[in-house]
Amino acid sequence: MFKLKMARLFPHFSVKTLKLNERSAARPLQGFYLPIVTFIGRRSYASQIEQVENKSVLITGCDSGFGFSIAKHMHAKGFTVFAGCLLKDKGDSGVKELESLKSDRMKTVQLNVCSKEEVTRAEEFIRRNLKDAEKGLWGLVNNAGISTFGEVEFTSMETYKEVAEVNLWGTVQMTKAFLPLIRRAKGRVVNISSMLGRMANPARSPYCITKFGVEAFSDCLRYEMHPHGVKVSVVEPGNFIAATSLYSPERIKAIAEKMWHELPEVIRKDYGRKYFDEKIAKMETYCNSGSTDTSSVISAVTHALTSTVPYTRYHPMDYYWWLRMQIMTHMPGAISDRIYIY
Ligand SMILES: NC(=O)c1ccc[n+]([C@@H]2O[C@H](COP(=O)([O-])OP(=O)(O)OC[C@H]3O[C@@H](n4cnc5c(N)ncnc54)[C@H](OP(=O)(O)O)[C@@H]3O)[C@@H](O)[C@H]2O)c1
Repeated sequence: MFKLKMARLFPHFSVKTLKLNERSAARPLQGFYLPIVTFIGRRSYASQIEQVENKSVLITGCDSGFGFSIAKHMHAKGFTVFAGCLLKDKGDSGVKELESLKSDRMKTVQLNVCSKEEVTRAEEFIRRNLKDAEKGLWGLVNNAGISTFGEVEFTSMETYKEVAEVNLWGTVQMTKAFLPLIRRAKGRVVNISSMLGRMANPARSPYCITKFGVEAFSDCLRYEMHPHGVKVSVVEPGNFIAATSLYSPERIKAIAEKMWHELPEVIRKDYGRKYFDEKIAKMETYCNSGSTDTSSVISAVTHALTSTVPYTRYHPMDYYWWLRMQIMTHMPGAISDRIYIY
């Protein structure tokens, strides 16, 4: 009855009944059936498409994961793609696969977003290889990123800095280097943030602070670029860890072991190994629970690069995280704390 009424009221929305404890263990409202209005199709991503002919895009972090798929997808759509790869010089398999397309519209570029020299060299290479440098570069997708986990008291300052170096300062450095070309094209900047750039989560501070930074940077840039005709979008993926190389079980174990061994004695004593291991086990569960289908992320980036009216923010994520993000970003902190601190 509820479904019927909602379908009549909102023909573009669909209503799904989710059993929350199937989607996630140890979440509030466990075992309850909660009718959730899900806005499937709330964004059809179907609006006027810009001409792609003679347009070029640069994507960072194309060795694997989202970057690799976006590079292939944008190439298939007819763009000239400059695929920034961290391990091009080392002959990484992702790079080889992109190069095996043997297309003059797919150009891999050695690019560590933290290295000023490599960023400068990449900018020179791209400028030389554009059909008309005066017409500029259409798109920059700041996708390169790393992740880690650990409660504040478990995380070293080196780790905080290491993650920020890639995710935040890498994004800022790349954007500053390529804005002159993007401005000439009145093009697009698409920053891959995360749902954790909008809402915090325990044991994720080293990652969250970098993605919150990317969100702030993107907003400032969007305001500043508006008069220049450059559009800036942020894509905030949910949990797709199972589909990319961001984490692997081995990596989680390695991070955990290193973290434990580097902990100050007082922290080890106060928390104890049992507590620490429980937190690591939670992280392992989270990493195994994500979506393996990245098509919603790829569609979001494609829309941001090709639509005449790109969105400010894209939220490719499952219903649980989408709802949680709405509650955490739009309701008073006292309410979201009540629901999500457990
Ligand atoms: N997967 C998710 O669930 C998820 C969710 C939200 C947001 N994101 C974001 O999505 C983006 C892509 O991540 P992903 O999930 O596709 O993971 P991924 O498969 O690990 O891809 C990240 C890519 O960035 C590259 N990279 C790392 N450090 C770099 C550096 N200094 N310079 C240039 N490239 C560098 C990596 O190269 P190597 O492989 O050679 O290290 C890798 O190719 C990241 O910004 C991530 O934070 C991911």
